Amino acid sequence: MASWRCIFGLLLATCYSSVSGEPNPVWHWQCLQGTCQKQHYNETVSSSPLSLPTCRLSCSDAAGLWPKPTGDVSVSNIFQNVNFNSIDVVPKQSNSPSSKLVREAGKVFKEQIQATIPRRFNPKGGKSLLVDVDIKNPSFSRLTLDTDESYTLKLSETSDGRLNALISAQTFFGARHGLQTLNQLIVFDDLKGELLIPSEALITDKPAYPYRGIVLDTSRNYITIDAIKRTLAGMGASKLNTFHWHITDSHSFPYVSKSRPELSKYGAYSPSKVYTDEDIKQIIKYATVRGIRVLPEFDAPAHVGEGWQNTGFVTCLNWQPWQSYCVEPPCGQLDPTKDGVYDVLEDIYGDMIEQFQPDIFHMGGDEVNFHCWKSTPNIAEWMQRKGLNVSEEKDLVQLWRYFQDNALQRLDKKAKRNIPVVMWTSHLTDPEYLTNALPKDRYIIQIWTTGTDAQVGTLLENGYKVILSNYDALYFDCGFAGWVTSGNNWCSPYIGWQKVYSNTPEKIAGPTKKHLVLGEEAALWTEQADSASVDSRLWPRAAALAEAVWTSPANPSWEAAEQRFLAHRERLVELGIGADAIEPEWCLQHEENCRIGAKLNTDTKFN
Ligand SMILES: *[C@@H]1O[C@H](CO)[C@@H](O)[C@H](O)[C@H]1NC(C)=O
Ligand SMILES: *[C@@H]1O[C@H](CO)[C@@H](O)[C@H](O)[C@H]1NC(C)=O
Repeated sequence: MASWRCIFGLLLATCYSSVSGEPNPVWHWQCLQGTCQKQHYNETVSSSPLSLPTCRLSCSDAAGLWPKPTGDVSVSNIFQNVNFNSIDVVPKQSNSPSSKLVREAGKVFKEQIQATIPRRFNPKGGKSLLVDVDIKNPSFSRLTLDTDESYTLKLSETSDGRLNALISAQTFFGARHGLQTLNQLIVFDDLKGELLIPSEALITDKPAYPYRGIVLDTSRNYITIDAIKRTLAGMGASKLNTFHWHITDSHSFPYVSKSRPELSKYGAYSPSKVYTDEDIKQIIKYATVRGIRVLPEFDAPAHVGEGWQNTGFVTCLNWQPWQSYCVEPPCGQLDPTKDGVYDVLEDIYGDMIEQFQPDIFHMGGDEVNFHCWKSTPNIAEWMQRKGLNVSEEKDLVQLWRYFQDNALQRLDKKAKRNIPVVMWTSHLTDPEYLTNALPKDRYIIQIWTTGTDAQVGTLLENGYKVILSNYDALYFDCGFAGWVTSGNNWCSPYIGWQKVYSNTPEKIAGPTKKHLVLGEEAALWTEQADSASVDSRLWPRAAALAEAVWTSPANPSWEAAEQRFLAHRERLVELGIGADAIEPEWCLQHEENCRIGAKLNTDTKFN
């Protein structure tokens, strides 16, 4: 059943149809005391009902945008009906590497608008929207740590009644963020059955930090291509720009190396649980259109195992009791004394450099177990021959450095340049070894200690560039059952989004050292997650990280961000991402009423 209602403005009558069954809403939202409040709708008093998403555009902090822009936000409270079928995204520089990306990003833009329209609605009529995308450096199509990601978005009405959005940016990467912001300004109003957009807006924006990522482990459990794409879709919607792919580990080797295919043949969980060259191409394309770099990690010399069985280059593989040789089963470590191991590494690096064309490379380098190496007879003999003492930690560190220096040489040979390398904090980043083992002009250190660990200070005082993944705020695998013990897992409890939100670089590094922080990255180690649960582990918490590092408020207040955060979680769900629920929908609908110390009591206003 459809019924038609008309609203009479000054000059124009706008009509809309409602096919939802009940044409007359009894509730709507009004901006009162700076918040959207659910009010009884009486059509003799209010001419036009507003849905909550529409109300937010003119009432919420920063028009409800997530992450909150760092520049100016001015948005009109007059809304126009947009015709979904006449939205065009047009690159101004038509024959450049960027223009193809802009056209692809335009498709994503339209898909995201479509996703906001509930199935039973078919909005009709409305004005056309032309999105002009003006890129100053259109030849630039790869993200680096120096890429300018700023943009300006200007929305206006033309004299002949069409809507025009102008997105200006230095690079495609800024422009696609502008499109993403525009996406959030177009809402489906289910009280009107229309797609609405503010008639005017002016937004300037750029990220506070250049590196904003998620590290996903695809070895402990395999993650399907679809689940990886959902992850990338959520990242794009939240302006995260780095998908750090921890593609292999001891448990399985799903990466199909073109030059060493036997590694995945032996090491994948099954022939279907692999990432082929074609899969990787698809993922990189999907990511690039969303402004995301795909950063490959090949973790070594620890965190190897399955797949290496027949090479002769792995030791301690599945040794028991595993507690003596590694942090979790199955154990496995490369044998640095075997010359052939570096040939295999060179081949893997070469394959990855060719496929990913990365601007930075991750060599892993965490959790080397010295007891494993010194319990390997041929390693002990080799060390003796070199005058190293297997009982001395510093000599085992020498062995590790021998491995790292050789592995780095092979990487450089394949990259044909000194590509910046990321390594996890480890023994090598201890103060006594750090500056010799990992020179700061070569290595970026990814911190996974707690945010208050002494290593953080050591690294910053020595002038290292760092990426923060401090486990006490950014390990999203914490807080589930133990799997090698009873009780809860090692880094319990579960980390709430509020903690993620307030973990800003300035808070960890301090105001005088924050310039050394490239950004932050949330980690999902997948011992206890797979494609069925990856969405709810990551989202919406990774969006909290996104604002901590894009906006990076000086005094982060989750309370002030809560309503925008809840709104963004709804956007993620609309995109088909299984983002976890944070609180009852009642609290989404009754802003500011659920928190302890809430000041508003909208009950009285229903009378
Ligand atoms: C709507 O408001 C008018 C004017 O205040 C009032 O007379 C009428 O009773 C209200 N209708 C409802 C359903 O509350
Ligand atoms: C090796 O180091 C251990 C522990 O420090 C020491 O007791 C031992 O004498 C050393 N061995 C040699 C051959 O120096």
